[in-house]
Amino acid sequence: MATTKKTIQSTPTRPGEKVRGLITRARIHRRILEIGKQIRADFPDEPLLLVGVLKGAVFFLADLARGIPGEVSLDFIAVSSYGKDTKTSGQVRLTKDLDASIEGRTVIVVEDILDTGMTLQYLLRILEQRKPKRLRVAVLLDKPERRVAAVHADYVGFTIPNEFVVGFGLDYAERYRNLQGVAVLTLKTPGKAEKPVR
Ligand code: IMP
Ligand code: MG
Repeated sequence: MATTKKTIQSTPTRPGEKVRGLITRARIHRRILEIGKQIRADFPDEPLLLVGVLKGAVFFLADLARGIPGEVSLDFIAVSSYGKDTKTSGQVRLTKDLDASIEGRTVIVVEDILDTGMTLQYLLRILEQRKPKRLRVAVLLDKPERRVAAVHADYVGFTIPNEFVVGFGLDYAERYRNLQGVAVLTLKTPGKAEKPVR
């Protein structure tokens, strides 16, 4: 797989943190345009509402929205997990709701990454209750090895191995979202071996 060496090298990291390019900006861009066309082909005559999950999906959503021809509107929703172990407990909380009703509308939830699936499972349950005409899911990245909840994404940018990734919206402690491409982040404490994040 091509790396984003130039971009990654110019990114300041903190001591002990290391990033290694995984997917280049150019590849991401090409793939998002494909997905945009696919979405429009699936719903040729419908106004679409893209619901971005803050904050990670912002970059993906911005490109995807411009890659879908025709009528597209945007809204945003935000969630947070309770504490550190919540990935497996499934405790997710809504911290920002949508601005408008989705009843009768064709909605595509746009998320940065599908990992355990807990976040999307929670969101889809809430949104389904609001009676959209259709509810679909688009994710930039899919890490199927970590799946706990049975969530299905209709549109997937890239399937990736079980590694902690940053960039193109994805963060580590709120940093690295602004990397051009997607990179693997590893941590190294002095005297100890390099270790994966989480
Ligand atoms: P899930 O609920 O386990 O599917 O996790 C979804 C959320 O966890 C994503 O929206 C991300 O915010 C975060 N996440 C999961 N894997 C990664 C990763 O590799 N890098 C950065 N954030 C991640
Ligand atoms: Mg995050």
